[in-house]
Amino acid sequence: MKITIIHGQSHEGSTCMVARELADKVGGEIREFFLPRDFSMPCLGCYTCFKTDLTHCPHYKELKPLVEAILEADLLILESPVYVYHATGQMMSFLDHFGTWWVVHRPLAEMSRKQAVAISTAAGGGMKSTARDMADSLEMWGIRKVYRLGFGVQALKPDEIPQRILKSIHRKTDRLAKRIRANDGKRGCNGRAKTWFTLMRFAHKHFPPMEPDYSYWEKRGWHGGNRPWRSV
Ligand SMILES: Cc1cc2nc3c(=O)[nH]c(=O)nc-3n(C[C@H](O)[C@H](O)[C@H](O)COP(=O)(O)O)c2cc1C
Repeated sequence: MKITIIHGQSHEGSTCMVARELADKVGGEIREFFLPRDFSMPCLGCYTCFKTDLTHCPHYKELKPLVEAILEADLLILESPVYVYHATGQMMSFLDHFGTWWVVHRPLAEMSRKQAVAISTAAGGGMKSTARDMADSLEMWGIRKVYRLGFGVQALKPDEIPQRILKSIHRKTDRLAKRIRANDGKRGCNGRAKTWFTLMRFAHKHFPPMEPDYSYWEKRGWHGGNRPWRSV
């Protein structure tokens, strides 16, 4: 299985440790990127991607290796430590670049054969909101299956994590790795993205066309009977 990990920080702490443990247990070819070390630009709000496409983004040269690794992956892992109850600023800045991939704009059909995991660790609280920050994008990109994994590690670095929490990390990563392996190679769309696809399809048919989104859908037959999760 091809696995891409995007780390929401540039150091190898507790969250990195959990992400690597899961990836190792799933097994396969693993590629890793660290933010902001491997991509540090905030979205400029120029709307170039919405008016044309992502390849015209002023940051595309720097973004391209990460985009390619995401597109090649069977399993995508986004991870972030909890910083003031949310994902790190650099993770959010990175995700801002993919607005056009959301199912309400121009979703990529290949997302329907991928699985993804949003991982967060906190000293005590904010794991859910942080995992959600990343899962929002993963789900709205139309990734077939999106899992969330959060741990309150009661620590500021990995060697301070209490044994019983480490055990829980080992147990939960074991279980999730098994599920991911069992679901490999399947195709589909998560329920949230499917609902938004249906709503947008209705909007396209009943309101003035928004370009270039409308033509993108038309070309792929999505206004007719075809669907992104059937066409790859
Ligand atoms: C700027 C900053 C903000 C933080 N905010 C929170 C927080 O809101 N809630 C919490 O429980 N821990 C918070 N922490 C602690 C980390 O989330 C926690 O130690 C995490 O496991 C660190 O992961 P890492 O080793 O991958 O960096 C914060 C740490 C930093 C540096």
